[in-house]
Amino acid sequence: MPTGLGGAVHTLGRVAAAALAVRALEKRYGRIQALRGIDLEVGEGELVGLLGPNGAGKSTLVKIACGLIRPSGGSATILDRPAGSPAARAALGYLAELFRFPGWYSADEVLSLHQKLAGSSGGEGERAELLELVGLGDARARRVEAMSKGMQQRLGLAQALVGSPRLLLLDEPTSALDPVGRRIVRRLLEELRGRGIGVLLNSHLLSEVERVCDRVVIIQRGEVVAAGRPEELSRPRGVEIELAGGVRSFPDASREDAPALVARLVGEGERVYGVRALAATLEDVYLQAVEGDTS
Ligand SMILES: Nc1ncnc2c1ncn2[C@@H]1O[C@H](COP(=O)(O)OP(=O)(O)OP(=O)(O)O)[C@@H](O)[C@H]1O
Ligand SMILES: [Mg+2]
Repeated sequence: MPTGLGGAVHTLGRVAAAALAVRALEKRYGRIQALRGIDLEVGEGELVGLLGPNGAGKSTLVKIACGLIRPSGGSATILDRPAGSPAARAALGYLAELFRFPGWYSADEVLSLHQKLAGSSGGEGERAELLELVGLGDARARRVEAMSKGMQQRLGLAQALVGSPRLLLLDEPTSALDPVGRRIVRRLLEELRGRGIGVLLNSHLLSEVERVCDRVVIIQRGEVVAAGRPEELSRPRGVEIELAGGVRSFPDASREDAPALVARLVGEGERVYGVRALAATLEDVYLQAVEGDTS
């Protein structure tokens, strides 16, 4: 099973700790086995998508990384510090799947509260920068109860960034966002990658994940069932060539075979109007990996 960087990230001879390293992680809730030995790593500046059906164990994994619940076995470390330790907590930002800020707080007050909780000395400058970053620059005085769901979700993202974390754990951060909001978040994630922040993005929006993530890990019933770069997982699915008489399919051909196929068809007197190399989307890969799971 490819798990990407494998152990540690080597940069210029220096071995840097992974932003998040999860090893043989297990979690039982009474009789329910939510995680059954998960290995997963997020490098610095790496964006990893965590996918899986409802109940697969995604939020459980994220909560363990945050130190909100304890694992039953295995380990999770943030920059080499055990999950839940003060050093690990200080290094991460978290946006919970179901969160609610007090309705009477303004955007600015929410961030101010989280600056106190996180011990951030960033002051007004940090708050203004974060609100700008999530597209809420004009809404700093707006009360939470007067915000749309999507605005609250973006405020949640700004909250997760208070104190300049090295690892961001985002549990479905774009579920309430419209296409413009999603684009804002996509750009934000790219910007964070440029700053060397590791991101674990837990989402059901596969096309989003495919566009933005460096690597994806698909889990099902507490186990990793597929992992890799989106383009590695998206296997070729043949070539279609549009001819005068209609479309002809070559299901075993790859993109590299296309020129020879076209040359052959032209040699046979065909007129070629279009050529398409087909690839499985992340959605196809996902559906195949978790086939039959309705839990
Ligand atoms: N506090 C809890 N007590 C008992 N069982 C729990 C608890 N939290 C989660 N579970 C169970 O653990 C399993 C994994 O749940 P989890 O919330 O991690 O899934 P998920 O992948 O985040 O799902 P979703 O996509 O619906 O958010 C499920 O079977 C769930 O019912
Ligand atoms: Mg969840």
